[in-house]
Formats: sequence, structure tokens, C-alpha cells
Amino acid sequence: MGIAYYSDQQLFHLQAKDCSYVFQVQKNQQLSHLYWGRSLHNPVDAVSLLTIEGRPFSTQLDPDDQGFTTEFLPQEYPAFGSGDFRQPAYEAEWSSGSRITELQYQGHEILAGKPKLPGLPAVYVESAEEADTLLVYLSDPDGLDVTLQYTVFANESVITRSALLRSTGDEPVVLKRVLSANVDFADSDFRMVQLSGAWGRERMVCERALSQGLQAVESARGASSHQQNPFLALQRLDADEHQGEVFGFSLVYSGNFLAQVEVDSFQQARVQLGINPRDFSWQLDPGEALQTPEVVMVHSAQGLNGLSQTYHRLYRTRLARGRFRDEPRPILINNWEATYFDFDEAKILTIAQQAQNLGVELFVLDDGWFGERDDDHTSLGDWFVDKKKLPNGLQGLAAKINDLGMKFGLWFEPEMISPVSQLYQQHPDWCIHVPGRRRTLSRNQLILNLARPDVQDYIIQAISEVLRSAPIEYVKWDMNRHMTEVFNPELPAHRQKETAHRYMLGLYRVLEVITGEFPHILFESCSGGGGRFDPGMLHYMPQTWTSDNTDAVERLKIQYGTSLVYPVSSMGAHVSAVPNHQTGRITSMAMRGHVNMFGNFGYELNLTELANEDLETIRQQVAEYKEIRQLVQQGTFIRLLSPFAGNETAWMVVSTDQEQAFFGYYRVLAEPNPRHYKVKLRGLDPNKRYRIVGTSWTLGGDQLMYGGLNVYKLARELQRHRGDFTSVALRLQSEAQ
Ligand code: DGJ
Repeated sequence: MGIAYYSDQQLFHLQAKDCSYVFQVQKNQQLSHLYWGRSLHNPVDAVSLLTIEGRPFSTQLDPDDQGFTTEFLPQEYPAFGSGDFRQPAYEAEWSSGSRITELQYQGHEILAGKPKLPGLPAVYVESAEEADTLLVYLSDPDGLDVTLQYTVFANESVITRSALLRSTGDEPVVLKRVLSANVDFADSDFRMVQLSGAWGRERMVCERALSQGLQAVESARGASSHQQNPFLALQRLDADEHQGEVFGFSLVYSGNFLAQVEVDSFQQARVQLGINPRDFSWQLDPGEALQTPEVVMVHSAQGLNGLSQTYHRLYRTRLARGRFRDEPRPILINNWEATYFDFDEAKILTIAQQAQNLGVELFVLDDGWFGERDDDHTSLGDWFVDKKKLPNGLQGLAAKINDLGMKFGLWFEPEMISPVSQLYQQHPDWCIHVPGRRRTLSRNQLILNLARPDVQDYIIQAISEVLRSAPIEYVKWDMNRHMTEVFNPELPAHRQKETAHRYMLGLYRVLEVITGEFPHILFESCSGGGGRFDPGMLHYMPQTWTSDNTDAVERLKIQYGTSLVYPVSSMGAHVSAVPNHQTGRITSMAMRGHVNMFGNFGYELNLTELANEDLETIRQQVAEYKEIRQLVQQGTFIRLLSPFAGNETAWMVVSTDQEQAFFGYYRVLAEPNPRHYKVKLRGLDPNKRYRIVGTSWTLGGDQLMYGGLNVYKLARELQRHRGDFTSVALRLQSEAQ
């Protein structure tokens, strides 16, 4: 591992665990990209890695060297307007109106460890040996400095990238586009993988072939969004879930983003990620700087599963922070789908009592406890308790929940304001709006302008006051609409397009302060389910409500897709009532449990209305989850059968020591006279024998992996093979040899 610089060739060789990344300073002092892929030995031969030659019509930077053109040159941080017609990594406009810049290499520094990114979430290290960082200093003679930051991880095939841009001239420079990373591949023999969807069906795995031109995913909604996730992967044509080369790009940011691939006329693929240039610009006054968010780039030679496992380890242990990063997450009961807004203390306590009887550990009071919030038309911003519903206040309710032996958690939507609220009466100008124009509503609410420091301070103070008022040990931080009429009356006209990013910086400041002040609280982020399921939020809150869609069949796709990037420990997964509130589908309590136990487990239904049989199943699920919780939340997650490919889904988690595993198999529709399906397990020790808990079966790890587990036979034995929506979830325990 490490970063080597070869001064004779002005070449950088970055070596992460199993991959190399190589670039070089060209004769015009620009950085060209030479290679990213499996590890290379030193020395690498730059000449054969780089193809650069003149073509008809190509631009010439040097009149004496016809062959030297940046038009097709693979680059590290390409500029606009002087020889490369592809998408630039950044665009700057000088006060003359000129948009021409050329970044030239000035020098570099290599540091042990990884510096923090000021004001932004990022992956971190706990000791300097875990990573090395390269800072490459570039500058344009008219007054723009750019520092490219690369961090290389010793124990993971991970390279992180970001850029810092600083104005060094006498006049302001306006940045029209500032992406975080640019990687130019020598070919485009890939499929592009993205996570796309909508409310209630977030992060569906979508793939497409690359072809000449642009292919992009983006958000311009003021949040990372349900519709697209700030992620893309390039998968070699011969790669699959378990083998072959895959390159992943994940942006640690929760706002508007762009992730795109441009294939040029020589089939070279240019990948770029960063803040969405749509409706963005940023003025740098002399001496000012802008730091871009970070892109986490993962190389896998073990297919998509290999890619995901690297992201899972990194995001679970080096992106998430705080006590709950490593502590077991409690099994919770949330009252949202049980009561919606219609509750009082007595009703809450009966549900909590029943939950406690079944072994549930945390009660979460969802929306509706504050102001006059009897529906979603009012009260966001009025963070004081509704005494009609809770006459003893939060303190009184929490104490009673604590007396039952459970922890107490609370829902907030701090970034929002209802036009029908006391806060709005006092501060009608605090929401994002254009003075004199319509304020477009969504879910009957407006967004507070977190770009304003006074609004940030208000949120910190209002939320902290509630958190101090009662023994609250969990917070669900919700956000239920996207941005419209983006404008900040506090900024001058030429800075208006900074608003959406300034909002994110404000939000990150608020989250840093609140989560820092209340380290004993487990925070879960939410945005109408998984509308802000991104690495930025995970830096502050180690788990996210995966989707408002709690249907067990739908959750197979949602959780499978989410697992491409995000660890099981980040996914909130709750059993809800049937018929399901989102789809009307009826699945068994067993299947609902089997799906959600591959997540941070909980319940979201009225436990006082269930039949005894269901209650007994819940009791068993809760007891079982407690036994496998550490394995599920910290083990290695492996996808086996994709719900996007057919009727069956399978996945498993294996403990790091390969002593235990938990396997889930799901069949959506019944088939008459079905095939004898066997599922080949993975990640086990071929030399160990595994007992399948609750059955008479004991099998070798080798047989389970190479011969497969006869799920058909097992499902029959367990009486779980008939009808639609069947599942088995099995614990495997290694036997002493
Ligand atoms: C959207 C969330 O995703 C739901 O779980 C619930 O908390 C509602 N908001 C409450 O308004």
C-alpha cells in the first residue's frame, strides 16, 4: 500500500489493498490518467499505458508537436475550453467573462492518514497507518488554485477523491461547475449500474450498456432523492455478482448531485461525480475556497458482491460514527402505521406494553406528538408537546415507557415548517421562497432555509430543548418534501445559485452539533422512507429508514438494491400489518420477519390487534433476532439470488470467523410441480460442518457452497413450501470438529 512518486517520469502510483491507480504530469503540466485496476508492480510503463496522438480535426496544444492533444487525453481534472471537448470536471468564469483556465502542476505532498474535509461528511481513519493521502497542487496563472486530494486505504481497495478550489487573484472567480472526481477509462466495455426508483420503490438496480455520448443520473430536488442515488458502478461485460471487475463511485453528499459517464468518439469512458452543476454556481472572492464533497471509489475483482462488501465495511466502520457504530441496535416498535396521527397516551402505552411483553426494546413515538398536529397540514416547527394527546408530556410518557423496561425514541422533522404553525406566524420569511411569488407546497409544508445561520441556530436550540426535556434515546430525523423556488433573500443576486449547497452545509452543521451534543442518542435518518439514503447522512446517523414501503415482497427488491452500497447495519426494516398499507398484499408474519431480520429489525403495527398465533411468531422472531443481531449487523452480507432476475431471492450473512451464518430464501409466487431448487451458499469455511438450527440437517461448508442447499426439500420439511409468498430463514452454526 502507499503512494509512490517517480520524479524522473513525474508519475504517481497509488496502491490501495488490491488495486493500483496511476497518473502522470504531462509536458504541458496537466495531469493525465494512466490506469485504475488490479494491482500493478513497480515500475509501471507509462508509455504503453498512455495513448496520445493527433487525429483529424484534433486540437494542438504545441505547434511543434502535432501529436500532443488533450482532446482524447485521459485526464485527472479536465478543464473547459482549450482542447478537450468532453465534459469538464470544473468550469470557472473570470470577471472578464472568459471561461478559460488551464491547471498546471505545481507540486505535491504525501501525508500519513486522511485529513478531514471542512464542513462536509467524509470517510475517516482511526490511525495514520490505515491510509495515505496525496495532495496534488495545481494552479492557473490568472488566479485559481486547485488541490486534488486522493486517499488510499491499506486494507481496502478504496481510493477517495475530492478537490479544493481557491481564488488567488485580485478579482472574484465564479465556479459554474465543480465536480469531485473525474476518471477517464481507456475503453467503455462496461455496463453502467445505477440505483433508481421513486417513493416506495427506492434503489431498484438498473443497468444499461454504455454508448457514445452522455449517460447520467442526477438529482436537482435539493436532496439525494428517492429517484436516483448518488452512486454508479461500471461493471465489466464478463463480470457478475461474484466475479469479474467492477468499479464503484459513491458520492458522500445528500443534496443535488450528478453522476455521469461520457463515452467519447474513441470509446473511452469518462466518469464524473459531484454537486449537480444544474442551478449551481459559486463565487470565490479573492482568498476564498470551496471544498467539494468526497467520492469513494471502490475497485472489485470479485464482482458486485465484492464491491458491496468493501462499501459495507468502510461505511459501517469508517463513515458512520459514534457509540452506535459498534453497539447492537435495539429492536424497536414504531407507532406510525399502528396509529398514524390518532393516538393518546393510553393507546401508546397499550402498544408499548404489548411490545415489551414480546421482548421489544425501544418504543418510537412517530409524527403527531407536537403542536396541533392531527394531520399533516399543521404544526411543523412548533416543537412543543400536544398536551391533549400527551397530558403528562414527553417526560411523563417516556418515564412510563422506561418503567416498562423499554427505551423511548421520538420523531422530528426539523428542516420543515407548516404554513399553519406558530413558527410561520412569527417567521414567515424563514422558509425557502422567492419574495412575492407563490410558495409551492408539498405535503402541505415548506422548507426552512437552512442556508441562514439564524435558522440553523433555531433548529439546534429547538430540537436540543426537547431532547433535554425527557429521557430520549433514539431520534428519527425525517424530511418530507423537495425544494422549489430556491432563493435566499440574504444573498446577493450573483450568489443565488449557491443556495442549495449552502443549505446542505447548514444541515451538516446542525447535524454535527446535535449528534455531538447527544452522543447517547441513536439517530436514524428518514426522508419519506429512503429519500435521503446516502453516505452523507450516514456520517451523522448510522441508520436510515429504508423505505415507507413495508410490504415484504417489495422489500426484497428495495433491500437487495440498497445493499449494493449500504451495509445491513444502515437499513431500518420493520414488520408491518397486512393487508400491507402500501400495496394491499397479504404475506405471512413469518415472511415479513424473514425479510426484515436482514436489517435493523423492528415492528410498525398495532400489536394489540393481532391474533395469538402472530403474537407467538413475533415473540420467537424477537428472541431469534437478539441471538443473531451481532451477526446480521456486523457480518459479511452476500447476495445469492436476485429478485430482479426472477421469482426467487436469496441472501445470507456470515460472521467474520465463519462460525455462524444466517440465510434467507424467498419465493414470491407458488409454482406447480416446481424444480428441485438448490441454492449455493457462499462465504462459509469449506472445512467446517454447519448445523442448520431447528432442523435435523448438518452439512459441510463445502457441500453447502459447491453442491448447494436443497431449499426445496428443506422447505417441505419445514412446511413452508405451499402457496405464494413463502420463505425460509435459517441459522447455520458450525460444529466443533
Ligand atoms: C414519513 C416517514 O417515512 C414515515 O415513516 C413517517 O415517519 C411519516 N413520515 C410521518 O409523517
